[in-house]
Amino acid sequence: MDKIYGITPHGGKLVNLKDLSEKTAVTAEKLPKLTINNWNISDLELLAIGGFSPLTGFMSEAEYKSVVKTMHLPSGVVWSIPITLPVSEERALLIDVGEKIALVDADGTVYGTMTVTDKFKPDKLLEAAKVYGTTEAAHPGVKKMYDTGAVYLGGPVKLLKMPDHGEFNDFYMEPIDTRKMFHDLGWKTIVGFQTRNPIHRAHEYIQKTALESVDGLLLNPLVGETKADDIPADVRMKSYQEILRYYYPKDRVRLVIYPAAMRYAGPREAILHAIVRKNYGCTHFIVGRDHAGVGDYYGTYEAQELISSVESEMGMQFFKFENSFYCKKCGSMATAKTCPHSEEDHISLSGTKVRGMLRDGIVPPKEVSRPEVARVLIEGMRK
Ligand code: ADX
Repeated sequence: MDKIYGITPHGGKLVNLKDLSEKTAVTAEKLPKLTINNWNISDLELLAIGGFSPLTGFMSEAEYKSVVKTMHLPSGVVWSIPITLPVSEERALLIDVGEKIALVDADGTVYGTMTVTDKFKPDKLLEAAKVYGTTEAAHPGVKKMYDTGAVYLGGPVKLLKMPDHGEFNDFYMEPIDTRKMFHDLGWKTIVGFQTRNPIHRAHEYIQKTALESVDGLLLNPLVGETKADDIPADVRMKSYQEILRYYYPKDRVRLVIYPAAMRYAGPREAILHAIVRKNYGCTHFIVGRDHAGVGDYYGTYEAQELISSVESEMGMQFFKFENSFYCKKCGSMATAKTCPHSEEDHISLSGTKVRGMLRDGIVPPKEVSRPEVARVLIEGMRK
């Protein structure tokens, strides 16, 4: 058993559900097979590498209900987002509780096994209302959830094959390894940063403000499924390397992918994002404005407020930032907490607006995006 360095993992124990032995793989081939999608494989991977510690499988009915209604696991540990394995009603009929099944991708490749302990019909409207704060199918996360099967399977899993992250493999690390890396770097305090966007000046400002008071920054972009109009992960990854090259001290930042799917669940997802980063070894986590939000489903600081309600149980610290912008009069990035000038002096563009400019080949103002980043994004979007 490798030594686990750093902050206590969520729920006390860093979970490891990998079994990559040849023998297990051969045995698994003989099990009844259930085809799962990329989203499920990503959840399986995060369960197995301990990103979702203390979870050891797809949620049982008791865990699911408790998480939806109380934002806690039955054990009392904070958990905000259901991690579930949906299947169709027809498919569920062919699976018995107590059965061990192989989880395979669309090509039939076995990624894991699961011992089915639970088979239940979720109340998806309740899940939507509680977890996403809306039952509207126009919400991309809610729509995804509605579109999945009507029955959830729960039970412990094993990961038999590591998913391939292709061109991102060089930036892939498991929580046990990021922890060791932080230890070897001599970092005692580490701030985690979640993003599904390129790094704009506001992101850079809040990261660097946090970096003033901790030892290191884990830049941990989400590279799993996102909605179609978000900037693709491969383009973003190039832009992260570019901004790190020109604007960040090399010895104080590490870029590692977060191989999860985006739920757009705003406040509830902010808590999940923090928990996972704690498991990766972060002692601190950044939550800015409208974290993990989409459209106008959530209030600007709702994620920060929800975190505050469970902060004493989280076992980590938070940097909460107000909406950041460039102020022409200050001649610097600022927030309402530090800038006395009026909105006319502020330069800030919405993500949608910036994406539109990039698509049209227009370099946004340098107060919004570093030109090196804009160039990579324009080039990437052209392809
Ligand atoms: S997220 O969906 O991954 O949260 P995004 O990549 O836009 O979205 O944001 C990453 C982090 O930066 C989040 O914590 C978000 O709240 C914060 N953030 C984004 N833009 C700003 C801004 N202008 N001011 C303050 N915080 C911001």
